[in-house]
Amino acid sequence: MRKPLVAGNWKMNLNHLEAIAHVQRLAFSLKDADFDALDVCVFPPFTDIRSVQTLVDADKLRITYGGQDCAKMDSGAFTGQTSSTFLAKLGAQWVIIGHSERRQFNNESNDDVSKKLVSALRNKLTPILCVGEDLTERNNRTHIRFTLNQLGQSLGNISKSDVSQIVIAYEPVWAIGTGEIATPEDAEEMMSALRNWLGETYGDSAASKVRLLYGGSVKSGTAPGLMAMPNVDGLLVGGASIDPDEFVAICRYRLALVGPRK
Ligand code: PGA
Repeated sequence: MRKPLVAGNWKMNLNHLEAIAHVQRLAFSLKDADFDALDVCVFPPFTDIRSVQTLVDADKLRITYGGQDCAKMDSGAFTGQTSSTFLAKLGAQWVIIGHSERRQFNNESNDDVSKKLVSALRNKLTPILCVGEDLTERNNRTHIRFTLNQLGQSLGNISKSDVSQIVIAYEPVWAIGTGEIATPEDAEEMMSALRNWLGETYGDSAASKVRLLYGGSVKSGTAPGLMAMPNVDGLLVGGASIDPDEFVAICRYRLALVGPRK
C-alpha cells in the first residue's frame, strides 16, 4: 500500500518567524491519527529551514520538511544556489524538483531536472518531481503525450532501483495558482497514464511503489474527490498550504471519504 502524502509548498511566503508560528499551529492541530494515516511535509523557503528543524527536533514533531529546489552539484562556485547536501544536513527529507515555476522563471530544462534528481538521491533526499502540461497542450489534447515525454526526459538518469524512491507530482500548469482545478477524472486519467508508463519502463513492481500526487489549486473542498481516485496518492498544495486551518482540513480529506482509503 502506498501511504498518502500531503505536501505544502509555501513558495516564497512566510519568513522564518512566521514559519515557526505556522508549524506550531500545524503541530497543535494534527494528531497521531493523522500522521498514522498519511505523511505530511512542508516546503518552507531555504531561510526558514533551520528554524523549522529546531522546532521539529525540539518538540519531536511528526511533520517533515524539505527544500523547494536544489542545485545539481554538492558544492562549489554556484552563487545563490543551495545543494541537496546542505538540505540533508538540516534534516530535510524531501526536495521539490522541476516545479513549473522553476521551469518557467529559471529556464530549467528536463536535463537540469534529471541532474537535480540524481543529486537529491545521492544525498538520500526523496525528490518530488513535478511534471504537467500547459493550457495549449491541454486544449490540443496532447497533454498526456507531453507529460509522459517530460517524465521520460526528467527520469533519463534514474535506474530501476531508484525510481521507487521518487514521488511524482502531476501539476497541470493551467491549474497552478489559478483557481482552475483538474477534475478527479482528469487527474486519474493522467495518473494512470503515468503509472502505465512507469510499469512499461521500470516494471510493474517498481511502478506500483511510486507515489503520484496531484497539484494545482487544491482546497479542502476538492481534496476528498481527488484522493478518492485509485492512482492519486497525495496532494501538492501551494496557496492553500499558507493557511494552517485550510492545510489541516486538506490533510483530513479522509474524513469525507468512504471505502478502503478512509
Ligand atoms: P497552488 O500551487 O495550489 O497554489 O495552485 C500548487 C503548486 O504550485 O505546487
